[in-house]
Amino acid sequence: MRRAARFLFALLMGLAVLGTLGNLVLARTTRAWFEHDLTLRSQLAVASANKSLAESWSDSIKLTEVLDDMTRDERIMGAAACSPSQRRLASTKGFPAEFSCQSVLGQMAAEGSSRSYWSTTVDLPAGPVHVSVTATSDALGTVVLVHDLSFLGRRETTTRNILLIGFLVISLGISAVTLLGARFAWKGWTLALRRALSGESQGEFQPLLRDVRSLVDRLAREREGEARGGAWSAARLKATLSQHLQGERVVILANREPYVHEKDGAGGVKVLHPASGLVTALEPVMRACSGVWVAHGSGSADRQVVDAKDRVKVPPGEESYSVRRVWLSPEEEQGYYYGFSNEGLWPLCHLAHNRPVFRAEDWSHYKAVNQKFADAVCEEVDSDDPIVLVQDYHFALAPSMIRQRLPRATILSFFHIPWPNSERFGICPWREELIAGMLGSSILGFHTQQHCNNFIDSVDAFMESRIDRERNAVVQGGRATLVRAYPISIEWPVRWLADAPSIAECRSSVRKELGLAPDALLGVGIDRLDYTKGIEERLRAVDELLTRHPEFRGKFTFVQLAAPSRTKIVMYQELNERVEKVAAEVNAKWASGDYRPVVLLRAHHEPPTVFRYCRAAELCYVSSLHDGMNLVAKEFVAAHEDELGVLILSQFTGAARDLTEALIVNPYDLHQASDALATALRMPEAEQRERMQSMRRLVSEFNVYRWAGRMLVDAAELRRRERMTGRFSHS
Ligand code: G6P
Repeated sequence: MRRAARFLFALLMGLAVLGTLGNLVLARTTRAWFEHDLTLRSQLAVASANKSLAESWSDSIKLTEVLDDMTRDERIMGAAACSPSQRRLASTKGFPAEFSCQSVLGQMAAEGSSRSYWSTTVDLPAGPVHVSVTATSDALGTVVLVHDLSFLGRRETTTRNILLIGFLVISLGISAVTLLGARFAWKGWTLALRRALSGESQGEFQPLLRDVRSLVDRLAREREGEARGGAWSAARLKATLSQHLQGERVVILANREPYVHEKDGAGGVKVLHPASGLVTALEPVMRACSGVWVAHGSGSADRQVVDAKDRVKVPPGEESYSVRRVWLSPEEEQGYYYGFSNEGLWPLCHLAHNRPVFRAEDWSHYKAVNQKFADAVCEEVDSDDPIVLVQDYHFALAPSMIRQRLPRATILSFFHIPWPNSERFGICPWREELIAGMLGSSILGFHTQQHCNNFIDSVDAFMESRIDRERNAVVQGGRATLVRAYPISIEWPVRWLADAPSIAECRSSVRKELGLAPDALLGVGIDRLDYTKGIEERLRAVDELLTRHPEFRGKFTFVQLAAPSRTKIVMYQELNERVEKVAAEVNAKWASGDYRPVVLLRAHHEPPTVFRYCRAAELCYVSSLHDGMNLVAKEFVAAHEDELGVLILSQFTGAARDLTEALIVNPYDLHQASDALATALRMPEAEQRERMQSMRRLVSEFNVYRWAGRMLVDAAELRRRERMTGRFSHS
């Protein structure tokens, strides 16, 4: 309304200005028209009376009569006949006293007019008059006619008023039409939008609106779920499983088992927790959901503890789910695990500058072992539409193998490592088979949208299928595989922290263990000894720190916990040697007395030790050259209940997208990385707290229960849709 009033006001102001200008132009123009008109009339009057004038010119009485005749025209006030010597020969009664032959002809002569006709306009007190002098045709003299011009003023006023009113009416009409038009257009547009939003219209907005609606629905569902269920926890995940999927259990397929039974060398058996981000993430999920974890039985005492069906209940003392162990011959392990999985796919998917090795015999083992595990999964399910979680690059073929035997299964596959771009992926000789195997999944998850996009591009490049970009799905034979990003995380709260020593105790015990001064500054790195982790670059950054920031010499020590990994592979053996060499070089350069800048602890460390080191350290440097997520970064954040400590994080990790308050670095840039180490060591506590609080909030909320919960909810939705489609297509 206010806008309309403003518009109207502006319009009226505009009209007023236009009216004033118009009025002026109008007055001038009409006056000019009338004067011209009177001039013609005067000439006409004298010309038509010429004969009578000539006959009576010398008789003043007759001449007066002729003049009287001429002034019958109502607008002629008076007339006078003047001799060439400017003497008045006769005049009518109404001839204004203000004029005489002398004055009029004198003015005419003064203006230098030599024409037979001259006129002027004079303003008398009674109003304006038009005075004209017209010579008689036979040059007897001149006739002066005085026209009343006051009518002109009246006529001007009337004309002006009529025009103004007309102008106003037209303007108001235009305004009204404009306003109504605008209003109807707006109304029509909003009505159209409203109709479109409510789904009535089938117009061109539909695809966009469908996205908006589904986004709004999803957010609303998440909000509602959040409000109802509170934060994601083990209990909520379990409830989600039974509510949404009517499931009581899930079957996980992952190469690495969550608990490894090893002979302890004294005739006993010890249980180890393997160093694997996959295990860190999935073990809590499994405890929450219960069911079976199908894995390679790799521990030296694994066979000793399983039942007749190769199952063992875990976690020890809790026994809430089972591990089903699958045994592999050394040849199978070599070909499937070391060969195709870790010499082929691992370097293929990570940008860490190591060439993948593809051997036909490894591929044969990979296929056979995938089938073996797929069969084991099918033996473990308790219905024909089970929920199966297939994990990682070891099992790219298993989803379609499981699908063949259990067409109604809900198969959620998750790749814990990056997916390369299609050009890079295309070098794999069995690229089509790998993708086809993965497309047996109902949902295929990656840590980041970038990896999803890369996968879809690879499908586009190498497969015959339909890509539904709207749903982010690949459709083959009428069945869809949704391709989605689900950034993985850790459990929250972390069970290892429940009875961990206090941070002060961790600080002092770790420093004592390492032979450091109680006030030594400590940085920590925790990894498997893998070339993707950038451990050499990390130790070189420590060297650079001490070179460029001398204040930290003798004070800062970096401790690297490095779990030996895949040690039968030459690339890993070489890495091991290189890391040792770099550590020795840095120490040789900067060590003095008891001080060592680098402590390399090459051994498997159990989670309580890992968390103790995290809590003891001022900083943690995760320098991966390429990493799907990296859960050590999130564990360091979880470990710091004191809200102190600084995380330095490679920009090439999936975690860098979540933990933006870390100091994000390019691990190849040693200047930048060493500056980040210095910044971390100098960072005021208030800033550390601010960053840490924010990261802790994020990790606690976006924990692994949420990760699994979102996948399960999406799977439930997919199941519901498929059932509906099935029902309709059968009816
Ligand atoms: C990565 C992989 C996991 C694997 C872990 C440890 O995190 O994504 O699947 O378990 O490395 O490697 P390993 O070969 O020892 O299982």
